[in-house]
Amino acid sequence: MPDSFELYQYALWFVLIFAAVNFVLLWFVVAPYGRHLRKGWGPTLNPRVAWILMEAPSPIGFALVFFASARAFELVPLTLAALFLAHYVYRSFIYPFRTRGGARKPVLTVSFGSVFNICNGSINAYAITELAPHLQASWLYDPRFLLGVALFGFGYAVNHQADEILRSLRAPGETGYKIPYGGFYRWISCPNYFGEILEWVGFALAAWTPAAAVFALFTASNLVPRAVAHHRWYHEKFSGYPRERRAVLPFLL
Ligand SMILES: NC(=O)c1ccc[n+]([C@@H]2O[C@H](COP(=O)([O-])OP(=O)(O)OC[C@H]3O[C@@H](n4cnc5c(N)ncnc54)[C@H](OP(=O)(O)O)[C@@H]3O)[C@@H](O)[C@H]2O)c1
Repeated sequence: MPDSFELYQYALWFVLIFAAVNFVLLWFVVAPYGRHLRKGWGPTLNPRVAWILMEAPSPIGFALVFFASARAFELVPLTLAALFLAHYVYRSFIYPFRTRGGARKPVLTVSFGSVFNICNGSINAYAITELAPHLQASWLYDPRFLLGVALFGFGYAVNHQADEILRSLRAPGETGYKIPYGGFYRWISCPNYFGEILEWVGFALAAWTPAAAVFALFTASNLVPRAVAHHRWYHEKFSGYPRERRAVLPFLL
């Protein structure tokens, strides 16, 4: 029976390999959900149920591992846990009830997402409690922590603002797509993804652990190709789509 450190190592490698495979694959095969849903990917689930099943393993795995640790109530690990859980409790249990008319999701992508999330939540909690002697009170003044928390907060705000703008495009019960305007949509087609990437890069800086770095890499590897696919789709669907917008990185990509 592997001990907890060995389990952590296996899960970390799994997440790293998943990120690398995802990054290559997603440039050729757009993940089949939302506007990119198509036939041939097996049975699908109601979008609310799918989001909860896919995302909830992350905060649950995180909380179980984190609160089992003797370091759970130390200031710095607890601050990092608050950031992680603020994002994931919203994403798992509030966001699914705020979206309007979301498309169904294949069981296949939901299953991959659940397995990824249970591993990712658990290893991030384990890393900031059991493997982080640097996360003492003095870390609160370290530039990596300060910059990381600021970046996380900024990304969180950008992500939420974008999610709200998308939500406002549909009346209750409405489906279909419109051109979003306002906020970071002035510069990019997918500010929700841009904000999410900033959040996890910020978290990786603030936590300074391999698990957080791998998660930031995974997020970018997942969302950059999807943002490029969304961007191309907007241009194909709307002839008047703003030409100056980039896909996901303002002025760059
Ligand atoms: N950390 C990660 O790796 C990761 C992975 C995936 C998602 N996420 C996060 O989860 C959130 C949702 O992701 P997503 O991939 O579902 O984002 P999305 O494709 O932008 O869709 C978000 C919601 O807005 C609706 N929507 C999108 N564009 C619209 C438009 N032009 N007009 C009207 N409605 C529109 C979608 O409806 P439909 O469902 O009908 O398309 C969906 O309900 C984001 O904040 C993202 O950052 C994170």
